[in-house]
Amino acid sequence: MKGIILAGGAGSRLYPLTQVASKQLQPVYDKPMVYYPLTVLIASGIREFCLISTPQDIPRFEQLLGDGKRWGITIEYREQAKPEGIAQAFLIAESFIGQDPVTLILGDNIFFGGDAFPRAFADFKSGATVFAYHVTDPERYGVVEFGLDGKALSIEEKPEHPRSNYAVPGVYIYDNDVLAIARAMKPSPRGELEITDINREYLRRGTLHVQRLSRGTAWLDAGTSTSLHDASAYVQTIEKRQGIKLGCPEEASLHRGFLSIDEFESVVAAMPKCEYRDYLSGVAVEVRRLGIGAA
Ligand code: TTP
Repeated sequence: MKGIILAGGAGSRLYPLTQVASKQLQPVYDKPMVYYPLTVLIASGIREFCLISTPQDIPRFEQLLGDGKRWGITIEYREQAKPEGIAQAFLIAESFIGQDPVTLILGDNIFFGGDAFPRAFADFKSGATVFAYHVTDPERYGVVEFGLDGKALSIEEKPEHPRSNYAVPGVYIYDNDVLAIARAMKPSPRGELEITDINREYLRRGTLHVQRLSRGTAWLDAGTSTSLHDASAYVQTIEKRQGIKLGCPEEASLHRGFLSIDEFESVVAAMPKCEYRDYLSGVAVEVRRLGIGAA
């Protein structure tokens, strides 16, 4: 399974912050936003990544994330010249995807809790798997309507009159058919290749699996100043209360076995003295003491 992190877009709602760095490079409490979706995919067992962003921001992401080696993963980079839709990512990353299934995660989606994603990746065989999450403002998202049997009946993009409160969060898992589907797509009236149209095509084929995320999962999006602040406050609250950190790729790689404990310790040793390093040093001590399942 290949992994795409989509981290382009205009970020106009975060102006003037986004004049110097894209939305996904902004801090969410103590880390850059992109660390959170990257960590979700590493924790789900994804090891090969392609990050897509704007031509101006790609060098900044490269500076931050590099080639991924220090986390035991690979990261390639591709440019999206203009924000012409989430589904365009599959065309941009076609050579990266090759013959494999692929997951796409939005660089500004923050998840915490539950094991829905690792389980969904482990169970995935073919077709498409997307998720559904109960929200108060479904009209801002793709919205899924469920039948009495719990199966998806329809998906609509930003409907004026949503048929349910279930929004589709920004994690999508597809088999390799997504490439042919994306190639055949036409832009929507707003000029974008819509991810919802891809999901509708899988729905039409009868191969779309929509999995409801339980109450135990938090999904935050950080696209406005208020939601960015709320996301930071949420992360701070959890980290302070539990003494764990969310969104640490090093820790996820260690637990997934992408880094050995020796490699992990040398990555930590290369960091400047800071809270982040202190935390990871504590993780190393615990893993040495209790084994890899710690935390
Ligand atoms: P949005 O939040 O819908 O758009 P945006 O980031 O451009 O922000 P704004 O509306 O404030 O201008 O995008 C959702 C995510 O998808 C976000 O992480 C950016 C990313 N995206 C792309 O990378 N390319 C695209 O063509 C689109 C439409 C979105």
